Amino acid sequence: MTKIYEATVTAPVNIAVIKYWGKRDSALILPTNSSLSVTLSQDHLSTRTTIRASPEFSTDRLWLNGIEEDISASKRLVNSITTARKLRAALEKKQRDDGVASEDIVLLSEWSIHVCSENNFPTAAGLASSASGYAALVSALGALFQLPQSTSDLSRVARVGSGSACRSMFGGFVAWRAGESNDGSDSFAVQVADRHHWPDLQALILIVSEKKKTISSTAGMQTTVETSDLFAERVRNVVPKRMAAMEKAIAERDFGTFAEITMRDSNQFHAVCLDTYPPISYMNDVSRSIASIVHAFNTARGRAAAAYTYDAGPNAVIYALKDDMRDLAELVTYCFPRGSTILSEDFYADPFNMFGSADRIGQVPTDPDVAQLATATGQFPAGSVRRIIHTEVGDGPCVLPALQSLLNESGMPK
Ligand code: DP6
Repeated sequence: MTKIYEATVTAPVNIAVIKYWGKRDSALILPTNSSLSVTLSQDHLSTRTTIRASPEFSTDRLWLNGIEEDISASKRLVNSITTARKLRAALEKKQRDDGVASEDIVLLSEWSIHVCSENNFPTAAGLASSASGYAALVSALGALFQLPQSTSDLSRVARVGSGSACRSMFGGFVAWRAGESNDGSDSFAVQVADRHHWPDLQALILIVSEKKKTISSTAGMQTTVETSDLFAERVRNVVPKRMAAMEKAIAERDFGTFAEITMRDSNQFHAVCLDTYPPISYMNDVSRSIASIVHAFNTARGRAAAAYTYDAGPNAVIYALKDDMRDLAELVTYCFPRGSTILSEDFYADPFNMFGSADRIGQVPTDPDVAQLATATGQFPAGSVRRIIHTEVGDGPCVLPALQSLLNESGMPK
């Protein structure tokens, strides 16, 4: 029987608390500023990817969520795969130089590959899957090619696929150091703290729209770099201070500081988008209402108990500690009732069993202060928030056993 050369991995989604927005080199994907994110649990959001290399494959092929895509049409895919192949070729050369017998060196770098990739969350959820997608691709190539490089080194390969993907190469809390060199050698991700450092931190993702964003991050950030004056101030003076303060807040598990910086940085990112010419506006009325409700919740608590952040779209991610999450989930599900076309388990699955039973979801909150806030805010039209994903901090990419492969014996999707 011929040996199969294959690897299957899963990789997580990450949500930035200090945003990456702006490139100083679009081909290598080098950012104008450092950024910092939280990796979310793969129980709720992850991409699984299987890659097989075989001398029998005539060309590289890719299937994404069951549909075949043309790899050669995406420069970024080609870049990531070519970079990983070069690392493999260097390893094969080293084996030769070290005197390994030629029949013992497997020339994986010269074979074509089949890539099959699936998300465990609906693509229609309106969540960017490029970060988990490229992190899974590069992790699978790293495992298949048995690359000796460190995770930070491999994060540079994920970065050339999509900037934010380099942060999905680690679990926990992750910084992407912008670096200064023109070749990108010092622009990579590092883990600031692992997932066990702050186990009480959770996230509630409010899907406001399942539509694809109107202006892609790639195009939007380029126009910002070219036209916004505010942006220069952000890059030069604001982000460096915030990166240091955020890392300190995480090290000290200081949620109040973490929350304030997170909200301010999201607000500034969207302000910079509005300062772009022509302006870019990703948040909508529902997004803005969610931000107001979070501030009202914090006022009611007398401290920053929850923090919103928005990427290049209207969906909100709200970070809070476990102890505050129940009241927050009650408030949010009361103010934003489930639409009639969505099943209750698809609207809010309650994975941490906050409510006890599904019919409690959407009732007036139990805590009197939160109940008062909820009734004063009132209810938005049903379906304004389409679905809610409740999750926590998670691990980086994981290698799965061969049984979990997405490819069948002949290397085609199962
Ligand atoms: C708003 O990583 O999607 O989510 O590098 O062009 O692929 P490209 O952009 P992408 O941008 C993400 C921007 C953001 C902020 C963030 O994740 O830091």
